[in-house]
Amino acid sequence: MRTRPLKVALLGCGVVGSEVARIMTTHAADLAARIGAPVELAGIAVRRPNRVRAGVPAELLTTDATALVKRGDIDVVVEVIGGIEPARSLITTAFEHGASVVSANKALLAADGTALHAAAVEHSADLYYEAAVAGAIPLIRPLRESLAGDKINRVMGIVNGTTNFILDKMDTTGAGYSEALDEATALGYAEADPTADVEGFDAAAKAAILAGIAFHTRVTIDDVHREGITEVTAADIASAKQMGCTVKLLAICERSEDGASVTARVHPAMIPLTHPLASVREAYNAVFVEADAAGKLMFYGPGAGGSPTASAVLGDLVAACRNKLAATTGPGESAYARLRVSPMGDVVTRYHISLDVADKPGVLAQVATVFAEHQVSIDTVRQQGKDGDAALVVVTHRAPDAALAATVEALRKLDTVRGVASIMRVEGE
Ligand code: HSE
Repeated sequence: MRTRPLKVALLGCGVVGSEVARIMTTHAADLAARIGAPVELAGIAVRRPNRVRAGVPAELLTTDATALVKRGDIDVVVEVIGGIEPARSLITTAFEHGASVVSANKALLAADGTALHAAAVEHSADLYYEAAVAGAIPLIRPLRESLAGDKINRVMGIVNGTTNFILDKMDTTGAGYSEALDEATALGYAEADPTADVEGFDAAAKAAILAGIAFHTRVTIDDVHREGITEVTAADIASAKQMGCTVKLLAICERSEDGASVTARVHPAMIPLTHPLASVREAYNAVFVEADAAGKLMFYGPGAGGSPTASAVLGDLVAACRNKLAATTGPGESAYARLRVSPMGDVVTRYHISLDVADKPGVLAQVATVFAEHQVSIDTVRQQGKDGDAALVVVTHRAPDAALAATVEALRKLDTVRGVASIMRVEGE
């Protein structure tokens, strides 16, 4: 074993960074044996050096992250700051100074992954980011390496634990969205400002990363259709239950049937209780992958939190260090397929629509006509309540999302439709 240590700079020492530092210290001998050389934490860049961080050597702390990555003797930079800047500049500087980079930064990768990959290639360095998607769950490496010989057709996952916790609470207790969000906040699952999670931004960044890798095509967060969970009501969840379904916030990356294009989207959807993703409870994540040869695979585990995310970071750190010793690099960006990324309107899906209607002869015929005019075929229809309290619940067959959305708009204009109580896509069948 080489005795000269590989040097690691840690950028950020919050929930994840402090766990990375702790594991690097407590597992030092094992990491050295697995890598073939000791790994030494050479410096930790933080914004607030005076904050108490148990188990983190205070003498390694610095507020000058740029100077740390410019030292010239750093082998691997671990970036767990998050956000676009200064993370992007620091990562670029790290490459320029000969370091490989391990990052957990989904927002940056989803916005600017291509430029970062190019910088890594230019400087013969690695860029690894297993921790950016679904925390501890091995997902990036399986998609990029284990399934490199297969053809992935669909990646459908629960990639945000906060929203899964909220929807699970709504499902199990009958609570409304606000009540479930309050509970998630009180228990520390939701942040003080939960926007990134509940509006689907976090999941959309992860969807972009997954789609890019799965389909060997550049996909950015701007290509991802995004809807959050703030409009999901207790009535939606109750409707889902009546259909033998549950509601999940799904990230869905799909290849079109003709194989010429792909789509990536994040939105709440009903899935049957028999689907493996329906059993993913609380704040857990899971990703369901469908590939030509492999068939259906499910990856499941904790998608957030200090230790789980640090586990993914450490795995990447070991890989980057091994490559450094071997004077090689791992696989970089693979975007050769250059498939067209289609808009949401082209996605073929099913809708569950609940309409408050007048309970009189001819209403069902009028509603059915609107579906027919938009070439949307109805799978099931049932009436709930009667007189002034009548609702029609329609579930469609698969149709382009644009046609389904236009159908809903036309239904809203019917005099006999008092309101559209709920619209939700149905997936997983
Ligand atoms: N906030 C995310 C979640 C974890 O709730 O799953 C970090 O991506």
